[in-house]
Amino acid sequence: MLPHRQLEQRLREAVSAVLPECAPDDLASVVVRPCAEARFGDYQCVALMALAKPRKLNPRRLAEDVLRRLNVSDLCDAAEVAGAGFLNFRLRPATRATALAAAAAAPAGPLFFEPANPPRTIIVDFSSPNVAKAMHVGHIRSTILGDCLARLLRRLGHRVITDNHLGDWGTQFGMLIVGWKRDLNADALRADPLAEMERLYKKINAECEANPATLEAARQELVKLQSGDPENLRIWQEMTALSRAQFDAIYARLGVKFDHTLGESFYNPRLPGVVEALRDRGIARESDGALVVFFEDNPELKDHPAIVRKRDGGFNYTTTDLATVAYRIETWQPDEIIYVTDGRQQLHFKQVFAICRRWLPQTARVRLTHVWFGSILGEDGKPFRTRSGETVKLADLLDEAEERAYRVVSEKNPELSEPERRTVARVVGIGAVKYADLLSNRQSDYVFSWDKMLALSGNTAPYLQYAYARIRSIFRKGNEAPSSAPAPTSLELSAPEEIALGQHLLNFGFALEAAAADARPNFICNYLYELAGRFAQFYENCPVLKAQGAVRASRLTLCDLTARVLAQGLDVLGIEVLERM
Ligand code: ARG
Repeated sequence: MLPHRQLEQRLREAVSAVLPECAPDDLASVVVRPCAEARFGDYQCVALMALAKPRKLNPRRLAEDVLRRLNVSDLCDAAEVAGAGFLNFRLRPATRATALAAAAAAPAGPLFFEPANPPRTIIVDFSSPNVAKAMHVGHIRSTILGDCLARLLRRLGHRVITDNHLGDWGTQFGMLIVGWKRDLNADALRADPLAEMERLYKKINAECEANPATLEAARQELVKLQSGDPENLRIWQEMTALSRAQFDAIYARLGVKFDHTLGESFYNPRLPGVVEALRDRGIARESDGALVVFFEDNPELKDHPAIVRKRDGGFNYTTTDLATVAYRIETWQPDEIIYVTDGRQQLHFKQVFAICRRWLPQTARVRLTHVWFGSILGEDGKPFRTRSGETVKLADLLDEAEERAYRVVSEKNPELSEPERRTVARVVGIGAVKYADLLSNRQSDYVFSWDKMLALSGNTAPYLQYAYARIRSIFRKGNEAPSSAPAPTSLELSAPEEIALGQHLLNFGFALEAAAADARPNFICNYLYELAGRFAQFYENCPVLKAQGAVRASRLTLCDLTARVLAQGLDVLGIEVLERM
């Protein structure tokens, strides 16, 4: 068991000895986390203060009582009460060394974290672009962040189900079908299907505004589609298939996979039933010809009723999302459903979640989470656009990332062969785009800067990828396979840089768990950046290949563990590493 877990276990025992009435939830809140500053110790527990308060106990006194009942001398050199009533712990060097050696000896096991127990079933709804439209940079954040959350939760041992909720149904298809029938340019469609469909949509949309007859035609095509007209269905299917092929090409470049792609259309047959149930249960009522859910007793939503059936009888985004929640609960019995979209959909999800609480009693035990993010801005602080002022297409953005990375790599490492440089450029370019996105606080807008994200120093993907490749080169130089040297049963960490690096390695799980708890991968980015920094200090001060015997073996093990944590951390972020760059 990891030392901090052992500490927690014993802390809980001591707390229940001091506070015998302590409820399981209270006990579960007794956790340790890494000390912000090493001079205070390795781990800190601040939970006792929260336990003292409702019991009107003096927090320092409580901490002292708990400490008196706590026996951790086999794990820690020091355990002391500090500040207003927290506890600080400093590990014994042997505890740290043994924990590191245990991880080194189990290459396939979880690295410095303990798998979630019990695992939860979590659905992640992300990416979800709209058919007949090119995926733009707005979808990049959902795709990158959603994929990262899915990887992270899976890595922690949860059962994760990913679902791409494609926007493949809705009123836009009326206009698209009018355009397709009147105006389709087959050559243009072949050359760039999404561009041609966008052209058709824009053209008919403009015509609809100017000419009521076109609007009526679009409405009729939509009704025909919805009632199953074979020709319109065929056109719709073709539009969907063409769009999906383009999306899939981008997912392949990004290394993103989905377990399911159930688009909005999948739920279409269920919508009348949803609306009927809402009406029968008195949750929705007629208002002005529409069927509406009011939230009178919800201060936040009271001025924002949700329409679930429009006056013309049509259903909308809300109706579809309600049907989707019901389907997911029925099919997968999830513990949580996570939606990853931009911040402008906050109201929508608040409405959907509030309706679900009233409509589906099962949702009481299902956590519904909206993980939202801000926009991408250009370096001028305005929405990120091409020089000619258009929204940036994701495919073009990825091309440019690879091209720029190619230039960086060719400069840095001209002796690599052309195909090698192309591979490095792909891994570095895509990695840089993903990392820059994940590094920013997701709820603030983030400024897209090629130079910053591709820099070889600083908190960037290329910096971390180089750190990894550099460690691998140590093994090549020393002619050592990381696994060839039998992992020592304990490590010898004596230099301060070795201790700092070793301790930071042990803290990997904290970064993963904090990132999962808050859906904030930036915690992982910052952890990895610090890891690379501590490694650099270690490598500067502690010779590895020139060292002898047990010290050499121990340092090689530290190198190997660092490389593994870097690779695994980057993998959670959806970023690849290379053996040489
Ligand atoms: N298609 C939507 C958009 O592009 C995102 C869908 C998000 N998922 C959901 N279940 N509503 O804005």
